[in-house]
Amino acid sequence: MQIKSFLGGFDKNLSYLVWCPSTKLASLVDPSVEPLTIFEFIDNNDLILEKILITHTHHDHFKYLDDFFYKYPLLSLFCYHKPINDLRHEYIGLTDNQVISVGRYLLTTIHTPGHFPDSICLWSKEKEIIFTGDTIFIGRTGRTISAQSDVKTLYKSIYNKILTIPHETIIYPGHHYGYSKYDTISFNVKNSAFFQCKNENEFIEVMKNFEKNRKK
Ligand SMILES: [Fe+2]
Repeated sequence: MQIKSFLGGFDKNLSYLVWCPSTKLASLVDPSVEPLTIFEFIDNNDLILEKILITHTHHDHFKYLDDFFYKYPLLSLFCYHKPINDLRHEYIGLTDNQVISVGRYLLTTIHTPGHFPDSICLWSKEKEIIFTGDTIFIGRTGRTISAQSDVKTLYKSIYNKILTIPHETIIYPGHHYGYSKYDTISFNVKNSAFFQCKNENEFIEVMKNFEKNRKK
């Protein structure tokens, strides 16, 4: 499976095109970035875009969905089976631990609520990569100050789910907020207090301090 990232959108959003080189079948993770360069890339590489995968239904993550359906009307749209916001297109609802094919490769869903109730991560065990949306970025987690966010739920999603997969796995986040667009889980655990908590209360403290210091 190959990956091309696109940066732009509302706030350093990252959209990812993933494809299988032998079949040319491609999926897009979050239509969050101005689509023209993505369309060009698809055309120049003779890819067949067949799926759009939504990491969560915050509006910036599906801002350009209509443009993709306009150009590729036969697309299939995938998101968590109980989307909070209306995507305005028919979708296939996903639950935890389901499998989506990208040509001969597979992505497994991990339901990771906390930043938003319908957050999912998409994990390729074989390729050791995970698309994390706004659940975790490079260097920190997603925030839990918005409506329907919940810090305790985020703790469970991160510590009981994401941190249990191999730490060599490379994180591809929904925004470019770190020093790099991507890095391993192991880097995050080594270098960020958000991923070193011994329990839920410690995590809540780290999140509180982060929000306090942001306001200065
Ligand atoms: Fe978000």
